Amino acid sequence: MTQTAEKTDLAQIGVVGLAVMGSNLARNFARNGNTVAVYNRSPEKTRALISEHGDEGAFIPSETVEDFVASLERPRKAIIMVQAGAATDAVINQLTEAMDEGDIIIDGGNALFTDTIRREKEVAAKGRHFVGAGISGGEEGALNGPSIMPGGPAESWETLGPILESIAAEVDGTPCVTHIGPDGAGHFVKMVHNGIEYADMQVIGEAYQLLRYGVGMEPAEIAEVFREWNAGDLDSYLIEITAEVLAQKDPETGAPLVDVIVDAAGQKGTGRWTAISGLELGVPITGIAESVFARALSSATAQRAAAQEGQLPSGTIAELNVDKAEFVEDVRRALYAAKLIAYSQGFDEIKAGSEEFGWNVDPRDLATIWRGGCIIRAKFLDRIREAYDNNADLPALILDPYFKGELENLIDPWRRVVVAATQLGLPVPVFASSLSYYDSLRAERLPAALIQGQRDFFGAHTFKRVDREGTFHIEWSGDRSLTEM
Ligand code: ATR
Repeated sequence: MTQTAEKTDLAQIGVVGLAVMGSNLARNFARNGNTVAVYNRSPEKTRALISEHGDEGAFIPSETVEDFVASLERPRKAIIMVQAGAATDAVINQLTEAMDEGDIIIDGGNALFTDTIRREKEVAAKGRHFVGAGISGGEEGALNGPSIMPGGPAESWETLGPILESIAAEVDGTPCVTHIGPDGAGHFVKMVHNGIEYADMQVIGEAYQLLRYGVGMEPAEIAEVFREWNAGDLDSYLIEITAEVLAQKDPETGAPLVDVIVDAAGQKGTGRWTAISGLELGVPITGIAESVFARALSSATAQRAAAQEGQLPSGTIAELNVDKAEFVEDVRRALYAAKLIAYSQGFDEIKAGSEEFGWNVDPRDLATIWRGGCIIRAKFLDRIREAYDNNADLPALILDPYFKGELENLIDPWRRVVVAATQLGLPVPVFASSLSYYDSLRAERLPAALIQGQRDFFGAHTFKRVDREGTFHIEWSGDRSLTEM
C-alpha cells in the first residue's frame, strides 16, 4: 500500500532533481515523518521514485514546477539537487518565479561559494530566501543521514533547522547540521571539507605505497594493518573503507582489486576550488594543494608513460634496513602527523574565508557536525572540538596542547618515513610537504629575508628591518647606501 499523500495535504519540504542524491534525500525526509514534494525535469525519475519507494513515507509527486510549488506548505521550502552550474541557475529561476515572498530555496549541490553569494543576492532581491547548503556523505549519507552545512540568512535556519535535523546523521544525540553563517558560508565550508578529504585520502595512499613498495607487503596484509589502525587514533570512515578496498579481490581474475584499477585518480573540482581559494586568501593549504596535484599527476598518463619509457634517472636507491613492524608503526605516525597538518591548514582556510567574507564561522560547529554522516568523519574530530572549546582563538590547530603533545610522539617517525621514502625513490608529496610546512612554521628565520633582498635589488620593492620600524631600500646600482623611504 502506498502512503503517497493526497494532494490536499501539503508537504513540509520539497526536492527538485531526483537523480541518486536527490532521490535518497527525498526518501530520507519521508522516512523521518516529513511529507515530501518531489519533482524532476523528466517525469520518469519521479514516477520511478514513487513506484519503487512510495511506500517508505508520504510523497507528493508533481510533473510541473507550478504543481510542485503549490504542493508545499508556507513558507515553502525546496531543496535543489540538480547538476551544478547552469542547471542550478535554471531551476532557481523557475522556483523564484513560482514561489512567493519569504519562501526558501535551498541549493544542496556542490556549488562554488562565490556562485552561492551571487545567487543569494539575486534571489533576495526578489524577496525569496536562498540557502546554499553543503551536503556530505555521498549516496549512502543522503539516504541514512548526511552531514549538512547550510549557509544563508539566519532567519531561514529557524524554519529549516528542525527539518534538516530530522534527516542529518547524529553523534551522541547531536545532529550533524547547524547554521554555518550567511550567504556562501555553508558551501565554502563544504568545499574545504572536500579539500581536507582529498588530503586525507592522499596521505592514506602514501602510507599504502610505502607499505606496499617500501617493505613489500601484499594488499591483504596491508588491509589488516589498516583494520588495526582503525581501532586507534586514526579511527575514521576513510581508514575503514581503505581496509575494505585493499582486502577486495577482483571478481574476474582473483587478483587484489587495487592492482587491476587504473592508477589515475579523478576529481569533480571541489579540491581544486579549495586550493584556488587557499591561494587567493594567501593561506598555505599545502597538504590539500599537493593532493590535488597528486591526482592531476596520476591522470597525466601520457606524460607518465613517456617518463617511464625515457627512464628518468632514479639516482641511488637505498636498501631499506628496518624492522618491518617498527616501520609500519612509523608510517602510521607519519600518516597521523600529515593528516593533522591537513586539518590544521583546512581550519586556517575556513578562518581566513570567514574573516574575508564576514561569516563568523565557529570552528567548533564544524568539528561537531563532521563527526558523523560525512566522508571525513573520524574520532579525531572530538579532539578538534575540544581544542577549540579550550581556546576558540587557537593560532593553529597544531598549537593546541593535546595536538602538540601528539606531535612530540609523531615527529621523529615522520622524519624517518620521509627520509626512507626519499631514499627509496617513492613519492610522498603530502608527507614531505607537510613536514616542510611544519618546519617552516617552527623556523626562527626563513629565507624570506633573502627573497626580500632580491625583490629590493631588482624591483626596489623595499624591505623592513629587524631592529627598527620603517621601510628601507638599498641603492643597489649606486653607492649601496641605505635609504629610509
Ligand atoms: P547524477 O550525477 O547523480 O546523475 P547530477 O548530474 O548532478 O546527478 O544531476 C542530474 C539531475 O539534474 C537530474 O535530476 C536532471 O534532470 P533530468 O532527469 O531531467 O535529466 C537534473 N537536471 C540537469 N539539468 C537540468 C535542467 N536544466 N533543469 C532541470 N533539471 C536538470
